[in-house]
Amino acid sequence: MRSKIVAGNWKMNKNLAETDALLAELSAKLPDTTAEVMVAPTFVNLTGALSTLESSTIQVIAQNMHFAENGAYTGEISADMLLNIGINTVIIGHSERRAYFGETDEILAKKVKAALAKNMRVMFCFGEELQDRKSDNHFNIVESQLRNALFDLEASAWKNIILAYEPVWAIGTGETASPEQAQEMHAFIRKTITDAFDVTIANEVSILYGGSVKPNNAVEIFSKPDVDGGLIGGASLIADDFMAIVKAI
Ligand code: 13P
Repeated sequence: MRSKIVAGNWKMNKNLAETDALLAELSAKLPDTTAEVMVAPTFVNLTGALSTLESSTIQVIAQNMHFAENGAYTGEISADMLLNIGINTVIIGHSERRAYFGETDEILAKKVKAALAKNMRVMFCFGEELQDRKSDNHFNIVESQLRNALFDLEASAWKNIILAYEPVWAIGTGETASPEQAQEMHAFIRKTITDAFDVTIANEVSILYGGSVKPNNAVEIFSKPDVDGGLIGGASLIADDFMAIVKAI
């Protein structure tokens, strides 16, 4: 089902005490909303976050996972480990994983399949770099990122997919895509999915925008018809800013 979603990707920020304090503030300030609100703290604080948010509707999600079931993969975390503690949504394909940890489309396709096989929800991230946009290649890049990781899935798998379009040039830079640029790409994404699958799947999938979403630009970005919410980095670390973005949806 196409739902409105605001998710905070905390990346490698906030220790245990800070996580607890921020979550307490978020759950106290959460406005009445029909949108799904999610936070992705670092792995070591997931269990603590789940217990702090026990009576809150804010969902706790993971930033990454490995594709293998288990085994000799030092430093990695499996889908079962996440499910076992009560996490059932995972971010896969963030541009920082692609850029700094060598995650290729091929690896990401395996991760997506591994998560879906366990009935997890996948928040799949993708987006072009600045040079791609400057050379007018951004639609091709996005199409190939989607095709390589998602287009051999069964149609029925799409109910567990959330897409997050995050142009790399807008992440952490303060430079956001204009609402028109976001809408143009989100409409392109829906058309690409319509062509590869069908219009129902394309219309049912939630497509989030990520990249320097702040309280002062969220309303305008979220007002676009194909933008179903946001994946928020920096502004999700400040309770009032994140909640202002939740209100904007
Ligand atoms: P910023 O909101 O800090 O630009 O980060 C976006 C992001 O990468 C969310 O995953």
